[in-house]
Amino acid sequence: MSLLTINKLTSSVGAEVVGVQPERLVDDDQLGAAVLEALEDNGVLVFPDLRLEPRDQVAFCARLGSVDFSSDGHHEVAGIYPVTLNSAKNSAASYLRATFDWHIDGCTPTGDECPQKATVLSAVQVAERGGETEFASSYAAYDALTDDEKRRFGSLRVVHSLEASQRRVTPDPTPEELARWRARPTHTHPLVWTHRTGRKSLVLGASTDYIVDMDLDEGRALLTELLERATVADKVYRHTWSVGDTVIWDNRGVLHRAAPYDPDSPREMLRTTVLGDEPIR
Ligand SMILES: [Fe+2]
Repeated sequence: MSLLTINKLTSSVGAEVVGVQPERLVDDDQLGAAVLEALEDNGVLVFPDLRLEPRDQVAFCARLGSVDFSSDGHHEVAGIYPVTLNSAKNSAASYLRATFDWHIDGCTPTGDECPQKATVLSAVQVAERGGETEFASSYAAYDALTDDEKRRFGSLRVVHSLEASQRRVTPDPTPEELARWRARPTHTHPLVWTHRTGRKSLVLGASTDYIVDMDLDEGRALLTELLERATVADKVYRHTWSVGDTVIWDNRGVLHRAAPYDPDSPREMLRTTVLGDEPIR
């Protein structure tokens, strides 16, 4: 019998986990594996009104893999990173505007790090309007291709850059901004990611700049079309946050974005990231 009680939220992505107490996430040795299995199946797990304490969130994440402690100092609990547009609470708030576009985290790392394995968000304060988080399965995006497309796209390679994702929100950067973006190395990834499990997904989103060896406009049009097909409304799970909700997603098989919200809103999420160990190939 499964350790988790799960209700699917859409046909392709997202499931609600009910009846789990925060203590069990921290203390139950078998729950980590059960959560990882449910994540592989559903892409996104929603724990409504879990009221997970920050320390317990980090302890739970440690059951799923290696916790990212690189952003220490932003919160009193190591491994917790506050996500807010309020620059008094988060000095990197301006970069977060790029999260309003569909993306996969970690496609343009500073080095050769793998994309994050999973991300956990818990709602501390929510926006009055907007601020929902939306998810779409990048496995389903691949599965929905025609056989001919699967054949044609199988060898395509895509250049990803921080500049591409930032330009979408800041189309007229200052020379300083541009220099900062360009200091980040670009990364070339296959369009089709063949995972260790054998499953395949499309690597799409805001960081995609152009397709190698294809006419620039033609390649960008294809990337836009594929993203649109992957994220049509009936393939999206949209989470409307309540204080105390916790959501975890498999960053390797899911595209996500935040719906815009008022920068003066008190919305605050606490994020913990589980580091990836699987390169895109
Ligand atoms: Fe993100």
